[in-house]
Amino acid sequence: MMKIYNYAAGPAKLPDQVINQIQEELPSVHGSGMSILEISHRSALFENILADAQQDLRELMGIPDNYHVLFFQGGGTGQFAAAPLNLATNHRKIALLDSGHWATRAGDEATKLGFSVDTLASTKDNHYQSLPHLDDKQDLSGYDYLHLTMNNTIEGTAYHQPELPSNTELVADMSSNFLAETYNVADFGLIFAGAQKISVRLG
Ligand SMILES: Cc1ncc(COP(=O)(O)O)c(C=O)c1O
Repeated sequence: MMKIYNYAAGPAKLPDQVINQIQEELPSVHGSGMSILEISHRSALFENILADAQQDLRELMGIPDNYHVLFFQGGGTGQFAAAPLNLATNHRKIALLDSGHWATRAGDEATKLGFSVDTLASTKDNHYQSLPHLDDKQDLSGYDYLHLTMNNTIEGTAYHQPELPSNTELVADMSSNFLAETYNVADFGLIFAGAQKISVRLG
């Protein structure tokens, strides 16, 4: 079989060992005689797999004990709605750095749901060739959180360090660089990403 390496932004290349293990274990997960595609999502067998995945993430990312690791349906787009609905309950106001297509989409979704979204800085004028930054003296206590797209998949820019807002939480979209960069999880209130693009940096 010819092997194709996909270096495009988006779906991640998986290590061969992982693909081979999936193939081997697909007919019978953990020797159960059933495929993971066939078992109940409420069974102990599946719950153990989920618990292992949570523990692995905690170790890989150094996730502190006071953070939850949650798995949802709906991908990054679902979180554009879930984040404001669950977290913007105090002021119903969100601050945003407009770094490109996905930041705009997040802001549009929150606006559609009736939240007030303030774009604190934008690099739209230069076609997002650079990143917008926070004015570090700005007090953001009137906002429920700051939304930041850590890796701008389409424009090819990334925050290698988070912009740290004063007096509010940071919500980070890591849809396209989750586990590919090392961040200090404690800097964030919420990190979200979709499984289809998870790329684990090896070595
Ligand atoms: C940075 C970023 N945010 C959000 C999304 C949307 O994520 P999903 O496709 O999981 O809804 C994408 C998808 O490409 C993305 O690259």
